[in-house]
Amino acid sequence: MDRLLDGKAVVVTGAGRGLGEAFAVHAARAGAAVVVNDIDAELAEATAANIRAHEGRAVASGHDVADPDQAKAIIELCAGEFGSVDGLVNNAGLNYEALPWQDDPARVRALIETNVLGVVYTGMAAAQAMIEHGRGGSIVNISSGASLGQRKLGAYAASKGAVASLTYSWALDMEEAGIRVNAVCPLAHTRMVWKSERSLRNCPPDRTPGRIAPLVLFLLGDGSRGITGQLVRCNGPQLHIVGQPYLKQPILERDVWDSDSVQRAFDEVFSAHLEPYGLEKRVPPRLRKWMEGAPLRSA
Ligand SMILES: NC(=O)c1ccc[n+]([C@@H]2O[C@H](COP(=O)([O-])OP(=O)(O)OC[C@H]3O[C@@H](n4cnc5c(N)ncnc54)[C@H](O)[C@@H]3O)[C@@H](O)[C@H]2O)c1
Repeated sequence: MDRLLDGKAVVVTGAGRGLGEAFAVHAARAGAAVVVNDIDAELAEATAANIRAHEGRAVASGHDVADPDQAKAIIELCAGEFGSVDGLVNNAGLNYEALPWQDDPARVRALIETNVLGVVYTGMAAAQAMIEHGRGGSIVNISSGASLGQRKLGAYAASKGAVASLTYSWALDMEEAGIRVNAVCPLAHTRMVWKSERSLRNCPPDRTPGRIAPLVLFLLGDGSRGITGQLVRCNGPQLHIVGQPYLKQPILERDVWDSDSVQRAFDEVFSAHLEPYGLEKRVPPRLRKWMEGAPLRSA
């Protein structure tokens, strides 16, 4: 298992620190040649130098994934230096907490540009290179449990939900080309967690980035052949698949849904089928009233 990425060339974005650094170092240790990308070029160079100092193969890239030309340049660097692009870990990301009515449009835009467009641009370029090279590949997008909905994380959650949808769609598009596309929802003690009291409570220091790396390496490697379109969560002790949104029964049908029939559908049918929402599984008020007060009797 030690050299499970032997002979592969892999790009890791946002790899100057935190999770990306761990993914890059572990991938190199597993035999991959690695492009260590980070918008903080000094940090990227430090990670690459560390890999080279331990007999690994790595080059640094200070490109910004949110710029389509620079995203393409990261992939071209990999193909130019190492002759192919076999894997991409779309890890670069931004995060902050804000209530929706206090958020700042410029901050929202910057987050979406990196977390969504950065993943799209880098993934597009990687897919193109993998198809040209003709031996398939593996794309691992870094999503988040926040994609299920979390307080004060609306823009971030939306960006990670977009990454999940992109993963399902690209897995469909790329299966025939032999490119697998999966996503990982990590939890690890990084500066992203240090900034939030709530995250710190849920993420003790022993949840190191290195504990998520084996999952990412597995998805990059040939041992995960046949696995695509999946969202996998690892938070340290737990490892599980994240269920996908689905069309829930009952599906009501009539020629036209007018205001009256929509009201009746909710009053008479859907009220009993509402879903708990968000990562915390909050019960909607209309259902909550059944769960408060005296226990229900069936007879
Ligand atoms: N830490 C967690 O518990 C956690 C949980 C869920 C998801 N994630 C996701 O994991 C990924 C890594 O997070 P982390 O905790 O290591 O964060 P981090 O802030 O420690 O590292 C992110 C890195 O991405 C780089 N970066 C930011 N914008 C970039 C850009 N436009 N181009 C290139 N590089 C850029 C930063 O310079 C930084 O070095 C992110 O996508 C994050 O959303 C983290």
